[in-house]
Amino acid sequence: MIDLSRTIDLSTTYLGLKLKNPLVASSSPMCADLGNVRRIEDAGAGAVVLHSLFEEQIELESEELDRFLTESAGLSPEATTHLPEPMHPVMGPEQYLKHISQCKQAVKIPIIASLNGTTPGGWVHYAKLMQQAGADALELNIYYIPVDPKVTAEQVEQQYVDLVRAIKGEVTIPVAVKLGPYFSSIGNMAKKLDAAGADGLVLFNRFYQPDYDLENMEVVPNLILSNSYELLLRLHWIAVIYGSVKADLALTGGVHHATDVIKSMMAGAKVAMMTSALLKRGISFLDTLATEMLVWMGEHEYDSIKQMQGSMSRNAVPQPKAFERANYMKVLGSYAMR
Ligand SMILES: Cc1cc2nc3c(=O)[nH]c(=O)nc-3n(C[C@H](O)[C@H](O)[C@H](O)COP(=O)(O)O)c2cc1C
Repeated sequence: MIDLSRTIDLSTTYLGLKLKNPLVASSSPMCADLGNVRRIEDAGAGAVVLHSLFEEQIELESEELDRFLTESAGLSPEATTHLPEPMHPVMGPEQYLKHISQCKQAVKIPIIASLNGTTPGGWVHYAKLMQQAGADALELNIYYIPVDPKVTAEQVEQQYVDLVRAIKGEVTIPVAVKLGPYFSSIGNMAKKLDAAGADGLVLFNRFYQPDYDLENMEVVPNLILSNSYELLLRLHWIAVIYGSVKADLALTGGVHHATDVIKSMMAGAKVAMMTSALLKRGISFLDTLATEMLVWMGEHEYDSIKQMQGSMSRNAVPQPKAFERANYMKVLGSYAMR
């Protein structure tokens, strides 16, 4: 049997980094464990994004530090009662930085650290510390839920841009921005982030919608792992945005099969990230995916991943209207009533 990995080139580039393939373990607590990061490399991933360090964790830690300093300075406890109760995060900021350097020592694949926040502030300084700890790149997850109706779309967008500029001002390593799909004009938002210096756009965040527990009359958090259906929204917008920004595009959400990775590449992504698939099927599934990709590419006479990247983006396909409103009536009309 021919060794397909010798004849087919799975390599890609992402954020200026050379990856042996486009399979990336996306940010999740799975990557908080050094053993898992090793397993991710052993299973053949091109890179790994560590779990997020949250703005709140950093801010709280510095508030705790303030409290310690004010209390040591002899201030009354009442003067500090506005401060929140200390939280005990799974991995605090200092441990996070240590985790980055341990991962760097343990594996050769690029380590992308993840910062999760919404507002420019003192916490963005951690971007620099992450770089110093050895991170090859940063992923900034802007998980912002604008619940205040007085806040305009323009203000929200400006906040994203300001935050990206603030982070870019801290580091020289590449910065990718992970964002959700809920913008009036996602293509325009992508261009704004590109102009603000984002080196990559990670599309899309999944927003976890709370559910109602009717027995206890409570609003409860609700985390359901994804399926391949979620891929379609990502393919759609990556195919549309491809070619309009300098930033690399990464697809996250709904990657469960080798063909999902191939579709991601054809839409225009440089990498396909996954969490749910690895949580459902185990880290070794990465190896299965790489083999299935080689088989598919061999059968369809592709020599390399680069050859397929963007080949089915909106500007490359013969029917670009498939990505536009024109397709809407046709799709609705195509439903066969049973
Ligand atoms: C249990 C769990 C924890 C996650 N934690 C993070 C996180 O810390 N930071 C982050 O940016 N994304 C986080 N994500 C989102 C994933 O990185 C990914 O973007 C999302 O799950 C969609 O990809 P998937 O369909 O492959 O799961 C988490 C997802 C899950 C399921």
